[in-house]
Amino acid sequence: MSESAFPEAMREYSSDRVDLRSDTVTQPTAAMREAIAGAPVGDDVLGDDPMVNMLQERAAALLGKEAALFVPSGTMSNAVAIRTHTNPGDEIVTETTSHIYVYEGGGYAALSGCSIALVDAHHGIMVPADVESAIRKAEGSLSHYPNGTLVCIENTSNRGGGTCYELSTIDEICQIAKRADCKVHMDGARLFNAVVATGIDASRIVQDCDSISICLSKGLGAPVGSLLVGDSDFIAEAHRWRKMFGGGMRQAGILAAAGLYALEHNIERQAEDHARARRLAEAVNEMDGFSVNLEAVQTNMCYISLTTGQSADDVVAALAERGVDLLEVGPNTLRAVCHLHVEDDDIERAITAFSDI
Ligand SMILES: Cc1ncc(COP(=O)(O)O)c(C=O)c1O
Repeated sequence: MSESAFPEAMREYSSDRVDLRSDTVTQPTAAMREAIAGAPVGDDVLGDDPMVNMLQERAAALLGKEAALFVPSGTMSNAVAIRTHTNPGDEIVTETTSHIYVYEGGGYAALSGCSIALVDAHHGIMVPADVESAIRKAEGSLSHYPNGTLVCIENTSNRGGGTCYELSTIDEICQIAKRADCKVHMDGARLFNAVVATGIDASRIVQDCDSISICLSKGLGAPVGSLLVGDSDFIAEAHRWRKMFGGGMRQAGILAAAGLYALEHNIERQAEDHARARRLAEAVNEMDGFSVNLEAVQTNMCYISLTTGQSADDVVAALAERGVDLLEVGPNTLRAVCHLHVEDDDIERAITAFSDI
């Protein structure tokens, strides 16, 4: 009998490094792996997978909507949402640094045939009046304009620093969109960070949004998966686009089980990630050569500016030599993200590494 190819499959996460590159680096914990191992499964393309069905129902209920669709990634979730809400030649209104615009390979153009009207924002949070003036309608323009039909809000805003929208701002943007006959999609990859940071229920935050994408594989600690959430008609149409984009999965219950576990156990604990990001931000901001805009440190992220001309590459390399991994996100900017596997000691080690270099 040959030795198992998976000798450490049930081990708890362990590393001698402090990995602050992203909240996407988390590995399933032993308890989550047990949930995966014990999951009853079926063919989800045939609608038979009990765990996927349960996860979709749970996500819809949490967000106060009728239905949800399990998809492999946040990028696919946004792509399916955009394709379902729009027609080729339509225009999307979204923020200049949004994931949809910056990091999705131009999928909105290639897959949906849409243009984007960009809104500049403070720490990623759009001002409702700017959204209003960015919406262009074909009608009444002698056909000069594309047709603005969709507004996308990213909450929390990743490049904004992990910032949260005020409820009144979301509500106002939704009203503006409705008046202009536009749908609203929320890229809520980290919606539950906003829920924990603001204390506002998820269903209230997204009350007036037509669709929401949430990610299980970021702060919630699942290995794979996102959910697109909305009303039943929207999700039925989105189901067709997911098929065409190749996102139908078969015995996906092994992934859904991890997602269900994450929704049950890993939402509230994100308060610890937020406290650790703040501890790191405040300490590094005190040091010569670094500055952190503390106003933007609202959840699990900390963007660090290099103030004395050091290159971000060099600083990342110097920190890595000390066992601390961050991402360079601009020539003078680094990003640190706290998550499931970052403990208080790890933050102290990161602070020491910053003060040593
Ligand atoms: C705000 C936001 N939206 C969408 C995504 C895409 O998620 P995925 O990596 O699962 O495609 C990310 C990924 O980091 C993100 O930060």
